[in-house]
Amino acid sequence: MLMNKDVTRTAFAASHSLRASLAIRARNALCAVTLLMPMLAVAAPVADKAELIAYGKYIVHGVGMCSDCHTPKDAHGQPVAGQDLHGASLPFTPDHPIPGWTPYAVKLAGLPAGYTQAQLTTFLRTGRTPRGTMANPPMPGYRMNEHDARAVAAYLNSIN
Ligand code: HEC
Repeated sequence: MLMNKDVTRTAFAASHSLRASLAIRARNALCAVTLLMPMLAVAAPVADKAELIAYGKYIVHGVGMCSDCHTPKDAHGQPVAGQDLHGASLPFTPDHPIPGWTPYAVKLAGLPAGYTQAQLTTFLRTGRTPRGTMANPPMPGYRMNEHDARAVAAYLNSIN
């Protein structure tokens, strides 16, 4: 039979080992968080970048339809495989003269010549080229918001 003293000692031992095991668990949890934190910090921008590029692809191919003019077409009007956004002669002409009409749409894959990603973002937001001019027709004067413009620039930078 346990004496009073023994009960007290057993209870003390139990609470002591409980506290010890909680302390170990807390320390392990802290270690896990500390070890994971740098991995999370690296993983977040990579995921953000992939998301931005995927969204840019959607704007280019699903909204802006840049390929209609900037991708060469075969004799059946189909995009030439492996030449997406590689620059193309326009497959149409205006039915009345349009000042500045330009019959060739430049290469966009891997960024257009003379553009940084930041300059392309500005162009898609404002219509202003790095040379301070506006693009000639029939290039549309897009007025994208900052996020959409950045996404298109990131996507075009990611392909070749
Ligand atoms: C209706 C046809 C058409 C569409 C659609 C089109 N473009 Fe163009 N784009 C052109 C033509 C033509 C030019 C050449 C204009 C010039 O030389 O001034 C051009 C030029 C450009 C230039 C170079 C501008 C310069 O003078 O520096 C960029 C950048 C560009 N396009 C991006 C895009 C993007 C991005 C999209 C889709 C979001 C797109 N374009 C959709 C026809 C088009």
